[in-house]
Order: sequence, then structure tokens, then C-alpha cells
Amino acid sequence: MSGLQDKVVIVTGGARGIGAAAATRMARDGAKVVITDVLEEDGRGTAESLGGLFVPHDVTSEAGWASVVDTATRTYGRIDGLVNNAGISSNQLIEDESLEHFERVLKVNLTGVFLGLKAVVGPMRAAGGGSIVNISSAAGLTALPFTSGYGASKWGVRGLTKIASVELGRHRIRVNSVHPGMTYTPMTTKNDVAHLGEGMFPLSALGRVGVPEEIAEAISFLISDDSSYVTGAELAVDGGWTAGEVVMMPRATPDAGASDAP
Ligand SMILES: NC(=O)c1ccc[n+]([C@@H]2O[C@H](COP(=O)([O-])OP(=O)(O)OC[C@H]3O[C@@H](n4cnc5c(N)ncnc54)[C@H](O)[C@@H]3O)[C@@H](O)[C@H]2O)c1
Repeated sequence: MSGLQDKVVIVTGGARGIGAAAATRMARDGAKVVITDVLEEDGRGTAESLGGLFVPHDVTSEAGWASVVDTATRTYGRIDGLVNNAGISSNQLIEDESLEHFERVLKVNLTGVFLGLKAVVGPMRAAGGGSIVNISSAAGLTALPFTSGYGASKWGVRGLTKIASVELGRHRIRVNSVHPGMTYTPMTTKNDVAHLGEGMFPLSALGRVGVPEEIAEAISFLISDDSSYVTGAELAVDGGWTAGEVVMMPRATPDAGASDAP
């Protein structure tokens, strides 16, 4: 039996992109998914296609979180997992960024995660434990220009994850962060920054952008019982973007580097 069978998992921002891919991946392994999003039509469509539940929800609203938890527990009786995935981006230099947008990004990306943690602790304790995955970013592991609010929020998510893991371990609640690299979703395609294909992202060791399904595999692993001894960890799923400097490395041709070594 899969480490996800019958687990009740909330995925915020699950209408599209990485959240939708994570919900799809977990539903495939038997999880009951509760998708939340501000995008009602897309969210409802994704949830229906997975036989799951949709709850309209803005992650910055504490009352909204209470309603999500209430609906999930009334429908399925428990909450085993939470993927704090909803997020918005920034793409301005600090000198051009407005205070209003900087604060909005922190509110959605960091305060939203804090409220999510707070909301599920009670039901997870009642269920005997749980697993929480907070979606940070490569921008939470290294300094990326143009991301002041975004990067600050994602560094914050990384730290908050570790604090929560230490506080909640005694309740058998695991908390980990996933750090996607450049991934092909509406967030990155709307600004024309992500292009699919080999060699299209030479800043990363693998030389390409990722697809949501590749991030979903990591999320699914961390929510499932297969990662039962993993907590407080940060998992980069970024094609090696944050592993080191690759800009001076020539790309290998298919034959180059081939060897007879096993
Ligand atoms: N795409 C990337 O390259 C990339 C890289 C690193 C990290 N991430 C992170 O992955 C997560 C998912 O991003 P994505 O690329 O799928 O983006 P996306 O824009 O496709 O999806 C984000 C979802 O979050 C929802 N959302 C936004 N604000 C919300 C709010 N206040 N309340 C509830 N839902 C809200 C959106 O409606 C959308 O459905 C984000 O946290 C993002 O920062 C993405």
C-alpha cells in the first residue's frame, strides 16, 4: 500500500501549476486532496478532476484557514498533510519595488504559511501526527536579484520550516521545505522567463527548466510515510541551480565525457 493511501492532504494554491501537479500526484497514490485557491473556477475544475474537494480560500485570511480546516475535517474526518504552496512573485530591483507590493508578497508567501501551520496543528495532533511541506524556492537558498520581497519571504519560509519542525516533532508532525528551481508554470511563463527544452536554462547544472510534475514528486515523497524520518530538511529540486556556479562550464555534446567506466 502506498504511503499516501487515504491520507487527507490540503494543498493551497492548488488550482494550477506546482500545486495542481502535487495534488494530482498524491491523488494518484490514494490521497484525498483538499484544494484551496483564490482562483475558484480553476480550483474547482482541478479538484473535481481528482475526485477531491475545493474550498475558496485566500491564505492571508485566518478566518479562511478556519473554514478550510472545518470543511476538510467535516468531510473526511481528519487532516494528515498540508502543502503550503500558494505564492506570488516579485520582479523589480529594490530601488523600483513599492512598499505595498513588498508587503503583499510577504503576506501571501510568509504570513500565509504561518497561518497554515497554526491552523493544522490541532487537527494533526488529534490525528496522531502529520506532515507539512512548505514551498520555498531556490530564491530561499541563494540571493537572486529582482526578488527582494519574494526572496525574503522564501528565506523566511525556510527558517519558519525549521522552527516548526523543532516545535512539532514531539507531536509526530514533520515539517520540511521544498525549493523548486525555475519551473514551467503560469508564474514563470507569464513573464516569459521560462522556456522548455534542453539548454534553455544554462544557469542550472542540468541546463533546463523543470516541469511541475518533477516538483510534485518531491512534495509527494515528503508528505507520504516514505519520508517518516525526515523533518526540518530542505530539498532543492532545481536542476542544480543552487549547487554551484556553472556559467563557465561548456555544455557536453552527447558523446563527450562518455567513458567505459561502469
Ligand atoms: N514556478 C517556479 O519557477 C517556482 C520556483 C520556485 C518556487 N515556486 C513556488 O511554487 C509555488 C507555486 O508556484 P507556481 O509556479 O505553481 O505558480 P502559479 O502562479 O502557477 O500558482 C500559484 C497558485 O497560488 C494561488 N494563489 C496566489 N495567491 C494566493 C492567495 N493569496 N491565496 C490562495 N491562493 C493564492 C494562485 O491563484 C495560483 O493558483 C509558489 O509558492 C512559488 O513561489 C515556483
